[in-house]
Amino acid sequence: MARLKAAVLISGRGSNMVALLDSCADPAFPAEIVTVISNRPGAAGLARAEAAGIPTRVIDHRAHPGREDFEASLTAALEEVGAELVCLAGFMRLLTPGFVDRWAGRMVNIHPSLLPAFKGLHVHEQALAAGVRVTGCTVHYVTAEMDDGPIIAQAAVPVMPGDTPDALAARVLVAEHKAYPMALKLVAEGRARMGGGEVELDGTVWEQEVLLSPPR
Ligand code: GAR
Repeated sequence: MARLKAAVLISGRGSNMVALLDSCADPAFPAEIVTVISNRPGAAGLARAEAAGIPTRVIDHRAHPGREDFEASLTAALEEVGAELVCLAGFMRLLTPGFVDRWAGRMVNIHPSLLPAFKGLHVHEQALAAGVRVTGCTVHYVTAEMDDGPIIAQAAVPVMPGDTPDALAARVLVAEHKAYPMALKLVAEGRARMGGGEVELDGTVWEQEVLLSPPR
């Protein structure tokens, strides 16, 4: 069976990209990573992708006169490698409606909160300030609204007493590294599909009914 050709867009560390690369390293996984593109020349994730033998590309937004020109370069690079799905993984640029439309239903993102709560930046500070007992991460299809769009998968993580934003971020990141490959698998197998502004799921197995936080 042909594997889905996925491109990963990063801006920094690239730990979610590594989680995707690790899953795709299994020839039985239904997707393969055909390129990693960073908008920042110094992104640490680039070296990690190169070490894994994945073709990388820097498309520096600052070297382009405007958003449309930057996105035209992105599109050209994505088309050149035959990308069928775009995975945003800590890619910190807002995308224009034109670019989002072109990739509608073929572009996904991970965000470190249970959307629609806590969009934007300083997500874990927002969660701590709100006093929630559970937070987590969300993998969703990308729409023109930032950190919005039909949800494919979420993972819930408890907020613990004394948590700092960094401690909470580290716990959520562990969940991200599980949720993103799982969501990519669902998409690549055609088991998560966009329909009527929502994601329809096929053949999923539910094992846990309640996550309590605090546990008792
Ligand atoms: C991740 O926590 C990801 O969810 C977040 O940036 C981090 C990137 O880390 N993305 C967003 O906040 C998008 N709104 P990584 O480069 O190690 O994957």
